[in-house]
Amino acid sequence: MAATDHIAATPTFDLAKEFKEFDETKMGVKGIAESGITSIPKMFIHPPEVLSTLKKPTSHTKKAIPLIDLSSFNVPTKRHQLVEQIREAISSWGFFQVINHGIPLSVLNETLDAIKAFHDQPHEVKSKLYNRDNDDKGVMYQSNYDLYLAKVATWHDSLTIWTAPEEKRGKEEDIPEICKKEMEAWESHSSKVAEILFELLSEGLGVEAERFKKLGFFDARLLVGHYYPYCPQPDLTVGLKPHTDAGFTVLLQNQVGGLQVKHCDEWVDVEPIPGALTINIGDTIQVISNDNYVSVEHRVLANASKEPRISAVTFFNMNTNASFEPLPELLSSDKPAIYRQSTVAEYLESYYSKGLNCKYFLDKIKIVN
Ligand code: OGA
Ligand code: NI
Repeated sequence: MAATDHIAATPTFDLAKEFKEFDETKMGVKGIAESGITSIPKMFIHPPEVLSTLKKPTSHTKKAIPLIDLSSFNVPTKRHQLVEQIREAISSWGFFQVINHGIPLSVLNETLDAIKAFHDQPHEVKSKLYNRDNDDKGVMYQSNYDLYLAKVATWHDSLTIWTAPEEKRGKEEDIPEICKKEMEAWESHSSKVAEILFELLSEGLGVEAERFKKLGFFDARLLVGHYYPYCPQPDLTVGLKPHTDAGFTVLLQNQVGGLQVKHCDEWVDVEPIPGALTINIGDTIQVISNDNYVSVEHRVLANASKEPRISAVTFFNMNTNASFEPLPELLSSDKPAIYRQSTVAEYLESYYSKGLNCKYFLDKIKIVN
């Protein structure tokens, strides 16, 4: 991987040591940003081949991911059109934004405010909550989820709360009081939107409306509250590195911006739209849909604005022990299965061992005829 070469070229730099020292301060990137630094520590500096992609595209026509109005969801005569819009968006972009999804603006604002309030707590309070102990369960507050797997760090901190399955669910007393009520409300509202969208995604494939639900996409759920502090050198690092998601994602961002989606080899901005949610599918759904739907790489630029960038994300995944494969209803002699059956455990293992590189996994389970 290119990032390794970059680090290897500077032998005096002990990356593992720098990661560990940073982690032990428990101050997060927000703490570094607020210490008044004007240049970022070396462990955040990305290699030139990544930095060169941060420049604005030269094309003059600004592309945008599809924007879909969900208000016609319950209007039988308009449903078909809505299904088509979503199918088209997810098969070409893997992403879309939705408006009129039914979540009151007050709930959205309270969610973002509560995440900000969590991250704004004084170091003495927040550092007590900083941990990496609960490997994929419970409640975690930390900077850079993949810090010790990564070759280079990124400019964000996160609060992660598992809500399902029961054995991974965060203990009531571990969920920070400062954002508990709001995160619960966000989960229940975002789950309702996910239910609607899963129906529409099923219909877009021509399969029974409840198909995704029955496959278990509500079985493993986690809520993440990301915080992207001001970065004094946004052209040297990223907020969140390029990756794909696993299952189905509902995301709410504040008005700062920085999320980008890869489309036709170009990074396209996901413009913040007040009240809108950003929706995308991940790798397991690409497999299940037999490539009718695509899981697309996305990233977040380092935040150049003094106002922090906040996002609230709900991830809907299958349980780790679940298996998945292209839906038999989609297959015929003309359209054979593109992938073999796999398990979520196999997927996760491959995903993390390859630096969040999903394409490796998809290639691995591809059926070669
Ligand atoms: C993620 C993600 C984007 C954002 O958490 O997987 O892509 O805007 N987040 O925070
Ligand atoms: Ni993501």
